[in-house]
Amino acid sequence: MGLAWWTFANPALRMVDSETAHSLSIRALRGIGESQTGQYVLNGLYKSPELPIEVFDRLFHHPLGLAAGFDKGAEALLAWPAIGFSWSEYGGITRYPQDGNPKPRMFRANKHRALINRMGFNNPGASEVRDRLIARKSSDKWPKTPVAANIGRSKKVPNEHAADDYSSSLDILWDYADMFVMNISSPNTPGLRELQVEDNLRQILSACNEIRTKKDVEKPILLKLSPDSTEEQISDVISTSIDLGINGFVATNTTIKRPIPRGTNARKAFSNDGGLSGRPLHSRALEVISHTFEETNGKFPIVGVGGIDSSSSAWEAVISGASLLQLYSALVFNGPSVVSSIVKGLRSRVKESGFSSIAEAVGYKHI
Ligand SMILES: Cc1cc2nc3c(=O)[nH]c(=O)nc-3n(C[C@H](O)[C@H](O)[C@H](O)COP(=O)(O)O)c2cc1C
Repeated sequence: MGLAWWTFANPALRMVDSETAHSLSIRALRGIGESQTGQYVLNGLYKSPELPIEVFDRLFHHPLGLAAGFDKGAEALLAWPAIGFSWSEYGGITRYPQDGNPKPRMFRANKHRALINRMGFNNPGASEVRDRLIARKSSDKWPKTPVAANIGRSKKVPNEHAADDYSSSLDILWDYADMFVMNISSPNTPGLRELQVEDNLRQILSACNEIRTKKDVEKPILLKLSPDSTEEQISDVISTSIDLGINGFVATNTTIKRPIPRGTNARKAFSNDGGLSGRPLHSRALEVISHTFEETNGKFPIVGVGGIDSSSSAWEAVISGASLLQLYSALVFNGPSVVSSIVKGLRSRVKESGFSSIAEAVGYKHI
């Protein structure tokens, strides 16, 4: 267990390149999270308080989960609840295995608490991930908390065949997640964001619906939005996807925009192509959450993600309209204790504001 904490907390690791530090964290967490003793110890260190909310007919212990991209290959599923998350999202998974972009492809701007990445969906592919998950289930290592799968388009598949690519991955992974997030908003696969155009989106979601109707169990399908779309484009995407039976939205993915750099390190990091996440994304993520909440009259659950690294940023996302939350970058900059400290702070906010549950605070800003 020492290793996971050390990996997150050791300032020396901030000196090695970001992706190596990340791989070490995942390896350590996989090792520890899978053992009962490791889970016990992690739980003792990072257990988060209860702040229950029911979303998609499921009870979440609190709203905060692990965002997509951290556990791309679904390797450490038991570690996420052990460090205090109430749910996790694995992936992005593509139909075919792929290496992603050449390294280096992940950069840190420490002063800004921001990451730039152009990973490009490096992952073992849907079939390999399913095999791993079958093994995990049969050895009784499936988490008790909800698990989402993030699905992207394979790089070698052109947009004309994207519908088949997404729906095949959905079919393959159906039994191995409680909900699915269709990712058409990553900036790191050429042409991917064009899938937000109405015709393309219709084809993808119709193909996914065909798979869904063949299955015995209903499961929610969500769409992940881009912070770089205009409000008008987001409205179009929302109305098309509601038309096609979408169950909720994730707001947002990373942005290709950059803040003005503070210092040389940030200037260097920001000059890399890729998606920016972390603190500078927060204000745009809030705008997209708010816009989505208003467009849907608060009737579709929104997962708020982007620069959540404190109870205030989490609270802002909730009152803007998010009933579930996720983070990635804050785990890199603050370590696992950020999870329980956010949930503790959210609990206090709920009490101070006189609400009897966090559900009452969702979208409160719009009342
Ligand atoms: C290295 C890295 C890889 C990511 N990979 C994915 C991915 O595969 N699919 C996806 O939908 N989002 C991916 N994301 C985006 C995150 O899920 C999240 O939307 C974004 O980082 C904003 O949250 P944050 O500010 O808390 O990091 C990735 C982010 C990072 C930093």
